[in-house]
Amino acid sequence: MPPDKAPGLGRILVSETQISEAISHLSSEIARDYDLSTLILVGVMDGAVPFLADLMRTFDQSVIVTTARIRSYYGTTGGQLIIDSLPLRDRIEGRHVLIVEDILDSGATCELFTRKLTEMGALSVKICALLDKPSRRIHNVKADYFGFEIPDTFVVGYGLDFDGKYRNLRNIHVLVR
Ligand code: IMP
Ligand code: MG
Repeated sequence: MPPDKAPGLGRILVSETQISEAISHLSSEIARDYDLSTLILVGVMDGAVPFLADLMRTFDQSVIVTTARIRSYYGTTGGQLIIDSLPLRDRIEGRHVLIVEDILDSGATCELFTRKLTEMGALSVKICALLDKPSRRIHNVKADYFGFEIPDTFVVGYGLDFDGKYRNLRNIHVLVR
């Protein structure tokens, strides 16, 4: 990108209203498929913050909720994942885990995390991603639950960032480069 032209905020791709409708729908599916007393929601920080907060509050009975922090670091030789924090093992053992992610892109994060959670004794591990970019998938993972399939375009807002910016926005926008 030319130094004088920083990427900026483009049009709304998914609106606040669409997000909230999708979350209601996801919530019904999850409540239908699980005994919620055996479930733990694990939000991947920092991107899943608003999604996790909105999704968890749709359930009217207790659901265990925790977080993990996994960063992608893109060096000159490609991507590498760094796990900064994992959930407590005694929370995961013997529970059904639902990974709550902002977006499923190459699938690297969810593949690694699924493996870790299984090693930690999860009864099952499934993925709930608000957004899915199936055309970008490299790893053999799928979103068991997803809100929206989107094309191969970089998006920001509602937890999604570019260089740490825009996470706070209520709508999801295209990033214009
Ligand atoms: P994956 O490991 O390639 O599936 O990518 C996972 C992470 O990359 C997501 O959790 C996001 O943090 C980030 N990511 C992928 N696509 C986008 C995007 O369009 N906007 C912002 N972050 C993204
Ligand atoms: Mg993420």
